[in-house]
Amino acid sequence: MSIRTFLGPIVSRTIFAALIFLAGLWPSDARADHASFKEEIFPILKTYCLDCHAPDGAGYEASGLDMRTHEGLMKGTRFGPVIVPGDAFSSNLMVLIEGRANKEISMPHGSYRQEPTKQDRRILRAWIIDGARNSDDFRDKVTPILEMYCHECHLSGGIGLQKSGLDMSTYEGLMKGTKFGPVITPGDAFTSNLMVLMEGRSEFGIHMPYIEQRGLSKWEKHLIRVWINRGAKNN
Ligand code: HEC
Ligand code: HEC
Repeated sequence: MSIRTFLGPIVSRTIFAALIFLAGLWPSDARADHASFKEEIFPILKTYCLDCHAPDGAGYEASGLDMRTHEGLMKGTRFGPVIVPGDAFSSNLMVLIEGRANKEISMPHGSYRQEPTKQDRRILRAWIIDGARNSDDFRDKVTPILEMYCHECHLSGGIGLQKSGLDMSTYEGLMKGTKFGPVITPGDAFTSNLMVLMEGRSEFGIHMPYIEQRGLSKWEKHLIRVWINRGAKNN
């Protein structure tokens, strides 16, 4: 009965991989998904699982799996973890959600018919493949990029801070903006001056980083754009 030994032989793993590849579901750009636990993963678990997987819920009572936090989710059931970071295929969480376990124990439970959509499953799968991290957008994605490309001139003593007043040493400084006002409009990356400058869309020909050749990669700009569009939160 144990689903912990459920994992099929290598053959079925290969067939499974081939099938989702053919179905176009393979997260070939798992990196592009790079989901945030708080913003994307938790809401999915909340919709489909939390009713039963929090204290007093049947799932929690029976298995010990508490999905209220990243910590609880990663801890797993009283038998051990249900997520293997980097390996969605062998993670029991996906085994159950994808109906690859014994039918009686597929999740959400039998009578509870609301199954995660394909899109939701794809997001969960990509998140696990990506390491199942409890990453926050600002701290883990945006800050390292600003440190690498902007801090040099936008910390105290830097020429960028001196000339424009934009102090990037803290979230508050970044949101405060320059002496003329904010450079980030939460929810709207397109009109945020920070993006305008980094994307070379300024009509005055100013470009950031100041030295154009040291520009950000497409991927790095994408991460910042996503963070702004999600509300530029201090998360
Ligand atoms: C209607 C209640 C209910 C919902 C909703 C629910 N579960 Fe469960 N879950 C249970 C119960 C009850 C058990 C204990 C099952 C058992 O031991 O047979 C359980 C056990 C589990 C286990 C451990 C299985 C094992 O035997 O080790 C996992 C993993 C799990 N659930 C994942 C999920 C996921 C993921 C979702 C949402 C997609 C979900 N559950 C939604 C009731 C629920
Ligand atoms: C080599 C130094 C340098 C680096 C690196 C740098 N900046 Fe600047 N930044 C400046 C200078 C100098 C100014 C003032 C420009 C001016 O007024 O002509 C400035 C001004 C700005 C302004 C305000 C523009 C205005 O006119 O209101 C923003 C926004 C900005 N920088 C963002 C960034 C971002 C984002 C990065 C990193 C991707 C970055 N900067 C990296 C030197 C730098």
